[in-house]
Parts: sequence; C-alpha cells; structure tokens
Amino acid sequence: MAKFNIAVVKGDGIGPEIVSGAMEVLEVIGKKYGHTFNFTEYLAGGCAIDAFGVPLPEETVAGCKAADSVLLGAVGGPKWDEVPNHLRPEKALLGLRAALGLYTNLRPAKIYPALMEACTLRPDIVAKGFDLVIVRELTGGIYFGERGRRDGKYGPEAYDTEAYSVMEIERIARTAFETARKRRCNLVSVDKANVLETSRLWREIVHKMAEEYPDVEVSDMYVDNAAMQLVREPSRFDVVLTSNMFGDILSDEASQITGSIGLLPSASLGEGKCGMYEPIHGSAPDIAGTGKANPMATILSAAMMLRYSFDLAEEADCIENAVNQVLEEGFRTADIVGNSGAVPLSCTEMTAKIIERL
Ligand code: IPM
Ligand code: MG
Repeated sequence: MAKFNIAVVKGDGIGPEIVSGAMEVLEVIGKKYGHTFNFTEYLAGGCAIDAFGVPLPEETVAGCKAADSVLLGAVGGPKWDEVPNHLRPEKALLGLRAALGLYTNLRPAKIYPALMEACTLRPDIVAKGFDLVIVRELTGGIYFGERGRRDGKYGPEAYDTEAYSVMEIERIARTAFETARKRRCNLVSVDKANVLETSRLWREIVHKMAEEYPDVEVSDMYVDNAAMQLVREPSRFDVVLTSNMFGDILSDEASQITGSIGLLPSASLGEGKCGMYEPIHGSAPDIAGTGKANPMATILSAAMMLRYSFDLAEEADCIENAVNQVLEEGFRTADIVGNSGAVPLSCTEMTAKIIERL
C-alpha cells in the first residue's frame, strides 16, 4: 500500500480526453490494490499560452519536479502555429524533459495479434510478429543545439546544430544495454556515421561499451537503412538505441506498423525515479472533442508509470492485460477499426471497457 503524487498535464487537443481516461484507470487500480494516487493538474502547451502567455509556466515545472511522476497528454495545435518560436507549445514538452533531466525515452512497439488486420504491413511480415523498444536520447542532439538565422553565402539562412558529449552518449547507451539485458539481448545502434561526426563518436562509444556487455549482441545500422528494415523485417529488432531526432522519426514509423499511432505509450526517465509518461502521438486537433480519440496509448503510459517509477509491476500487468483483452474481444476505436466491421467506440466507451476488465 502506498501513496503517489502524480502531476497531470493534460495539454491541448485530445490531451484532456485521453488523460482523463488514464486517470480513471489509475483510480480503479488504486482501489483494487489499495494505493492512493493524488492528482494535481498543471497547464502546459497551448492552453498555458492562452492562460499565462507562456507555454511552460514556472508553476508547472515546480509541480512536476515535486511530484513522484508526471502524466502528460499532448501539446500543440494549429491555433498556436503563428506564435514566435520561443513560445511554441512544443517548447513546453522540451522544457519539461530538460528541466526534469529526462534523457531516456523508452518507446515500446509490438504487434497485438488481435490487430494484425489493422497493420499496414504485408500479412506474411505481420505473421512473424514483432516486439521492439526504441531507446531514444531525449535531452540532447539537434533538438537542443545552437540554432538561429544568419547571413550566409547565398543570403539569409537558418541553421540548427547537433552536438553530443561523451557523457550524454554513454548514459543513454548504458540504458539501452541494460534494457537489452532484460529482453532478448539484442541491440541495434542506429546512426548516420557515414556522414555525421556525432554519429562517429556515438559508434565509438557504443563499441567500447559493448565490451562490458558480452552477453548483448550489438550491431550498427545507418538510420536510412533502419527506416527500411523496420517495415521490411520488424521482427529482427529487439532494442533500438538512437539519437533524439532519429528516435523521433523511427518511433512514429514503428507505431504505424503496430496498427495505429494511438496505441504507443512512452516513458521518459532520468537518474531518479520520477518519470514523465505520455502517448507518443500528438494532440490530434482534427478529432479533439469528437470522442474519436483512442485512449489506449495514454492508459498504457500510465501502466509504464506504475512499472518504472512506482515499482508496481503486477498493477502494470493488470492494465496491459485489460487492454489486450479488450482488443481480443474485438472492441475498437475509430483508428483501429480497419476492415474488422466493429462499431467504433468513443474514448470514454473504450476507457469503460478497459476498466471493466481490470
Ligand atoms: C514526440 C513529439 C515531440 C518530439 C514534439 C511534439 C516536440 O513528436 O514526442 O515524439 O519531437 O519529441
Ligand atoms: Mg514525435
């Protein structure tokens, strides 16, 4: 029995709908297993711009830092497309990751047997199944490098820079090696070492660290090839280690081959136990308020919170099994309805189905 303080950042678009679903699930888990989850809501993203004029208010940063973990929906939307760059809603997400020191982003992607028909890959590829996790560096690289505008050789130009320190590469690589050890002991390090100096350093360090992990089979792959192999033979991947930018791109690709981006949870972790848990998808402004959003990625993110930040593995299993069961029984939200003929459930209806099975 334990008490946990969770900072809740619902954000924009479908954020409030999907996070409410995950909170309800946590409430039920709390009752079932005798834990107390205290939720405190904070604003970040576009809604914070509207309320306070900034995407990431100090109060939100302080509240998230003080909490045992953060549950986040999604931020951004066309309404804030025209705001100056330093005020964009996405700054809230990047700012929180940096402020909390969350340099590891775990993005698991696996195929649910029940959803094979929703998968866009060829049936013979899907039939082999896949279960992989992308370990994405989250607080460095081109996302956080120097950027700006200047006068260039051909007139005005813009630039972004990628830098990675030895320390940053070592700590994310360590997470990836340790993750591989707990799984199938296979690690693919994805880079662009044929062009980028940061990738060459990345490779050197991964190779050196591989000596400490003789039980883990390590290989390198260029990111363009990795993008191809992910759709050609996803079953060959176990743990994929990569940089911030490459991880962003490859995780969207990995999500689509599971059937829907609405299914993929993520955990962002640092040195301590406090993590930030969010679906990998965005705020989907086009379907916000329609009830069409799939709450599963956020509910599975809550399960990851229980597992990684609160050491509640049984409770996490309970949520994951309930999601699996709902899918096995044929319940679908609009994004995964495919050719199944199922009547799509709304976000709240799907949440209720999951809760019934906890
Ligand atoms: C993600 C998102 C973010 C990222 C955006 C919203 C800044 O795409 O979490 O994958 O690029 O990290
Ligand atoms: Mg992304």
